[in-house]
Amino acid sequence: MQLKLALIGFGVVGQGVAKILGDRGEFFRSRYGADLVITAVTDVKKGAVADPKGLNPKALLDHLEQHGDLTTFPAPERGWDALTTIQRAEADVVVEVSWTDVKTGGAALGHLREAFACGKHVVTTNKGPMVVAPWEMLEAAGRAGVEFRFEGTVMSGTPVISTAWRGLRGCEITGFSGVLNGTTNFMLTRMEEGLTYEQALAEAQRLGYAEADPSGDVLGWDAAGKVVILTNTVLRCPLKLEEVQLATGITEITPAQVEEAKRAGQRWKLVAQAAVEDGQVRASVLAKRIPLADPLAGVMGPTNAVTFHTDLLGPVTIVGAGAGQKETAFAVISDLLDIHSALVARQR
Ligand code: HSE
Repeated sequence: MQLKLALIGFGVVGQGVAKILGDRGEFFRSRYGADLVITAVTDVKKGAVADPKGLNPKALLDHLEQHGDLTTFPAPERGWDALTTIQRAEADVVVEVSWTDVKTGGAALGHLREAFACGKHVVTTNKGPMVVAPWEMLEAAGRAGVEFRFEGTVMSGTPVISTAWRGLRGCEITGFSGVLNGTTNFMLTRMEEGLTYEQALAEAQRLGYAEADPSGDVLGWDAAGKVVILTNTVLRCPLKLEEVQLATGITEITPAQVEEAKRAGQRWKLVAQAAVEDGQVRASVLAKRIPLADPLAGVMGPTNAVTFHTDLLGPVTIVGAGAGQKETAFAVISDLLDIHSALVARQR
């Protein structure tokens, strides 16, 4: 089955999606029967193009590299903003990978609303809408009768939400704890290796782990957003961002403190957790010194981990990539392939 895709945002993740489709499109067709075709791309900085017959992903990336934007890319339609693209592009799936704002939801909130109103399936890695209005998004998708996936909002392509929703179906998940921010975990690892805070941050930004505004990473807002997403969509308990207990993230951790913890057989981690007791949720994102024997202490670099506490299976820990271009783009790909399977099943 063919799925036509409208990419809303052509930054790190959008380009990563185009790269994977360029490299593996044929494999997806032969292995899964999934013909994933980009028919529109729109980006506030790089311009917009659309072609119902399909835009070659490699050609898009080459053009961007040579010209810095897509404004002169040959296509029958150009210049559409995000909402126009959602409304007019010949697309089955809206792939929302634009700028993230976990405090307001940003423009992405409007993009998802419009996509559902237009009856489009949606894949997003954008935390904004799922932090600010998770129930509205889930209900809008349900009302529209469309498929909606957002695996990449937490731990990039590591299958956290799909594992909780499908693999752990039948268990009660009462809480979770984890290392949910790749930037800060990478920085703490590099600081332990001798880098200053500033050097570690610059490296995290260069490698594409950090948000466009990295203050959200280092202060804990990004991890808190992920706590909100998991609490609402996996624990199924309402929780707002401002209800997550936050302090100063990792901003006040000094190289001397990192060294001191090391000498004591401990390690600093930004621990994100939530638990439900008597119907009440308690959630926090706090920098903590944890013993090396703790499984979370062994999670290094941009790797993330989450332990789900379940009644029938006990603790279940998932360890994997938490950030990165290829890793987050993979989340989009796995969601698209999952939607493809669901749509094929609907036809039976
Ligand atoms: N800035 C985020 C992180 C990206 O470092 O984990 C993935 O959400």
